[in-house]
Amino acid sequence: MSRTVYVNGKFLPEEDAKISVFDRGFLFADGVYEVTAVLNGKLVDKQGHLSRLRRSLSEIDMPSPADDTEIEAIQRELIQRNSVTEGLVYLQITRGAAERSFFFPDPETTRPSLVLFTQSVPLIANPKAEHGIKVLTVEDIRWTRRDIKTVQLLPSSMCKTAARAQGKDDAWMVQDGYITEGTSNNVFLVTKNHIMTRRLSSTILPGITRASVLAYAEEAGYEIQEVSFSVKEAQSADEAFITSATAFVLPVVEIDGQPVGDGRPGPVTRRLRELYIAESLRRSE
Ligand code: PDD
Repeated sequence: MSRTVYVNGKFLPEEDAKISVFDRGFLFADGVYEVTAVLNGKLVDKQGHLSRLRRSLSEIDMPSPADDTEIEAIQRELIQRNSVTEGLVYLQITRGAAERSFFFPDPETTRPSLVLFTQSVPLIANPKAEHGIKVLTVEDIRWTRRDIKTVQLLPSSMCKTAARAQGKDDAWMVQDGYITEGTSNNVFLVTKNHIMTRRLSSTILPGITRASVLAYAEEAGYEIQEVSFSVKEAQSADEAFITSATAFVLPVVEIDGQPVGDGRPGPVTRRLRELYIAESLRRSE
């Protein structure tokens, strides 16, 4: 049975869902997106994702085709129609279809496109959680406004594919000698029970999972330092991990062929994954 997706006001079977070839998302990557996890059919970190969506839209001066209440209603309808118990809801807003021009079209005449779909995937029983992932470091070749969650994902896609060609699970991107973030996740180190992660700026996406994990870690008594670190510093940490809406907290056990710690997921990472899952199950709505 095909999935039901949402396109510009309609719930449709995925094979009937269509977007114009003139859509600026297609021609200019002129769009923003959000990925929200679903556990037990409920949304995880819902408000954080909606707030970041508003910020992304405002940073690129794009009008919104729907308010938060309408978006949430569409998300819930899709979760229900597709019987998603565990997985994600993807949401994308683009500036809409207009004659091809580098200038933004007149918002009075061009309506933004709104697309949502779901994916059913096991997030808690992620096989990578048990053994951890291996990463390759690469130069960060993205633009300089990485704080905006735009659909321009080609650089990240290239880096991730290059990592896989070398037998790794993901790439960590490096700028001026310091790690920025993973291709689709934020990066953390643990040394002597201190949790370290890069400070927020336009060089990284302000991860919603990052914020929740930091809050739960602080409540649990861990000391947090928002600092930049080099590849060498990362390789000599006790533990390393990533966070994202779909990975939750995932251990990183190897960086550029060097094992992190003893090359196995560490105790702090394991505890933070358990904590994040427990809190998400409790708070999801
Ligand atoms: N990616 N950094 C980048 C570059 C990302 O693309 C993502 C999320 C994150 C983590 O953000 P959050 O915790 O809010 O998911 C950090 C999503 C999952 C994706 O593109 O599929």
